[in-house]
Amino acid sequence: MKFYITTPLYYINAEPHIGHSYTNIAADCLARYMRQLYGEESVYLLTGTDEHGQKIKKAAQQAGKDPKEFADTVVEQFKHLWKVLDISYNDFIRTTEQRHINTVKRVLEILYRKGDIYLAKYEGWYCTPCETFWPSSQVSKEQCPDCQRPVERVKEKNYFFRLSKYQDWLINHIHTHPCFIRPSVRSREILSFLQQPLTDLCISRPRERLSWGIELPFDSSYVTYVWFDALINYISAVGTFDSQDRYHSRWWPADLHLVGKDILRQHAIYWPIMLYALGIEPPKTIFAHGWWLMGKDKMSKSRGNIISPYTIVERFGVDVYRYFLLKDVPFGQDGHFSEEAVIKRFNSDLANDLGNLVHRTLSMIEKYLEGKPPKERECRDREETEIERKIENLPSQIRNSLSAENDFNFAFALEQIWELVNMANKFIEETKPWILLKEKKTEKLERFLFLLLKAIKKIAESLQAFMPQTARVILEHLEKEEIKKGKALFPRIR
Ligand code: ME8
Ligand code: MG
Repeated sequence: MKFYITTPLYYINAEPHIGHSYTNIAADCLARYMRQLYGEESVYLLTGTDEHGQKIKKAAQQAGKDPKEFADTVVEQFKHLWKVLDISYNDFIRTTEQRHINTVKRVLEILYRKGDIYLAKYEGWYCTPCETFWPSSQVSKEQCPDCQRPVERVKEKNYFFRLSKYQDWLINHIHTHPCFIRPSVRSREILSFLQQPLTDLCISRPRERLSWGIELPFDSSYVTYVWFDALINYISAVGTFDSQDRYHSRWWPADLHLVGKDILRQHAIYWPIMLYALGIEPPKTIFAHGWWLMGKDKMSKSRGNIISPYTIVERFGVDVYRYFLLKDVPFGQDGHFSEEAVIKRFNSDLANDLGNLVHRTLSMIEKYLEGKPPKERECRDREETEIERKIENLPSQIRNSLSAENDFNFAFALEQIWELVNMANKFIEETKPWILLKEKKTEKLERFLFLLLKAIKKIAESLQAFMPQTARVILEHLEKEEIKKGKALFPRIR
């Protein structure tokens, strides 16, 4: 068993915001979950940065730095954020690294020799914020059809990749692989786009117009178009063209490329076709999640409506932030971000439900059993066996929710966990342990506390992937020889 999961390589023209952190938190959660299931060695989580292209060149110029020097500083900001957010990546790839540049050149050579890359005149439009070429037929009012920002006229000789040659293969592949593009609404979107003939992809920029890129191995007066360069990272990271092939056969094909819906077309059309032309297997799944919006707009650096993840983490803590992002919106759909929404979730799900359950249980053990963990006892009553059954079923419920078929439904997995939280809270209210104590029903009281501890342990284990710090704190409480109630995990915000 192996699980190779990737995030997009983010542009380094500005600092990361909530949107970028969302993809990485989701990827981290899946990676941690898979490690728990299949072992540390079975998972490879790749993230990184996309450092070439016009947009980066411009940002570096504005900062008065050369592009590489500029990139070096922003990369540190990305790495710092991933550390703060507990992103457990195995590899961080930068498109300016030699291992990547070598792979890109190999790919270009192979495709050129094969005749899949040819020189032609290009006339059309270019959107720098999206780093996308647009044919005149798709552009009106000199605006990018995707983001509505102004486009620039481009008229130059360029190299093209024969996308059109492989269109029928791709359509067939999508039809025969229901988990190839998820959620299925995105798969249908791509199929409908593929009803029109594909235009071949312009994959170069003349050096005199843009020098910041990887040189074409067969024509030094050109550099590689940034998207063609960046997508290849997914194979450069696993050493696909390494002579010893130490990693490629271990990790490829990628099990999951996690991306936002803004960059689905590049991942679901260009990338699989590039791989197919190279004779390399396509990834198993490409999942496009939705956008965090501010009002009606996508949160984005170029729109200037961003919230920094640090603001939220400083106020609420990392795990609350992770929980909110994964719980508040079904994976795949858009969501609205606001601090009020975070506070609402915090008070209900975390302070009231989870925090309360842990606190009440630990304090009862401290109070009724002098902190000694109760001995294992068999369940007797109906409520007890129901909770026991829920504890047993929870792992498979989570596993189902987090499968590709079910669109990696983090929110539903968390709902399953909270079902147990709520059952346990109700169990406390209905059992009324203080009466058991008064009536000296010790056996029943111990049974009750044993089951509660077992439930909390399962809850904490299940939360490890979602809220690693919280899970650790709860488990540490339970491992002590003398259990104490400790501090409240999530004190209510008023
Ligand atoms: O597109 N909501 O990089 P990028 C949710 N370099 N996710 C968001 C978001 C939002 N408002 N804003 C950004 C690029 N994201 C290319 C990728 S891959 C080989 C090259 C996330 O810096 C989401 O994952 O513009 C989106 O796809 C990605 O950031 C785009 O990051
Ligand atoms: Mg973008």
